[in-house]
Amino acid sequence: MTEPLFSEDDEEFDRPRLAAHGPVRVRVPAKINLHLHVGPVRPDGFHELTTVYHAIGLYDELTARRGDTLTLTMEGEGTGALSLGEDNLIMRAVRALAAETGHDAFARLHLKKQIPIAAGLAGGSADAAAALVACDHLWGTGLARDDLAAIAATLGSDIPFLVLGGTALGTGRGELVSPVLTGGHAWHWVLAVADEGLSTPVVYKTFDELGGAGVAGSPDDLLAALRQRDPEVLADRLANDLQAAALHLRPELRQVLDAGLDAGALAGLVSGSGPTCVFLAEDARHAALLAAELEARACCRAVRTAAGPVPGARVL
Ligand code: C5P
Repeated sequence: MTEPLFSEDDEEFDRPRLAAHGPVRVRVPAKINLHLHVGPVRPDGFHELTTVYHAIGLYDELTARRGDTLTLTMEGEGTGALSLGEDNLIMRAVRALAAETGHDAFARLHLKKQIPIAAGLAGGSADAAAALVACDHLWGTGLARDDLAAIAATLGSDIPFLVLGGTALGTGRGELVSPVLTGGHAWHWVLAVADEGLSTPVVYKTFDELGGAGVAGSPDDLLAALRQRDPEVLADRLANDLQAAALHLRPELRQVLDAGLDAGALAGLVSGSGPTCVFLAEDARHAALLAAELEARACCRAVRTAAGPVPGARVL
């Protein structure tokens, strides 16, 4: 039997009471949405969501060191394109944690980025979750995961999930998360990463302009499929109400989805607000074959395989 990627009972959250002297390295995954029902726009401008988040093994890594000021450097995906100033979600997360705990917002942070930016994989949200967990350890503030998730919710809709990880039901604007127990079964995915990102607010606006009526409905069938552990069954139940808007903005994604299905994927859908397309494979071997086939077709910038569920932001 293969080791589960994610165990529902080893979720003991290491709560430091003493500040760390050495560097604190935190690994944080990307997310996909197995089910994304978008409801009407609310008075605060956000949409009411019912979603099933799923954390997958494509990671960013944030290292936090002690310092007498707050600095951020990076390498990898998005270097040069991503602002490292106060508007970066990492900086906002550190400032929010400092305000909440009364700690000085001092740290030297370095981000190693593999999750593509503006890709529908919540990479920015993942980095914010990593920053909360890293500085909590560095400073010895020792907050419970629920406290970190509460701060996370003030920063962005997907961030509480990336503190938690695994597979989880998301409601509200996505920030209210509760774990879905799936018995440690691993699902295998192939990601087709696009050349250029899509702006999440623009995708939601397009969703409204196209009629604003989500059809994905209840996630019950999807949740039942997860419990059955049969990829053929899961394939039929994946749903994303933002897919039509992403395809409207980026019609060529239809060819990417078709290429994946043609190459033997059990299912293909746009991840979150896109433009990454995600394909379900039968197992790890099938995922590797599918990835090679998609790479050969050169229909996207990069192809990645990733299994899920995996834990959220964790100290290494
Ligand atoms: O919460 P987050 O900052 O990730 O959201 C980014 C943008 O996505 C929001 O400004 C909003 O335009 C859109 N959004 C939405 N409804 C949600 C979540 C996000 O309209 N539930």
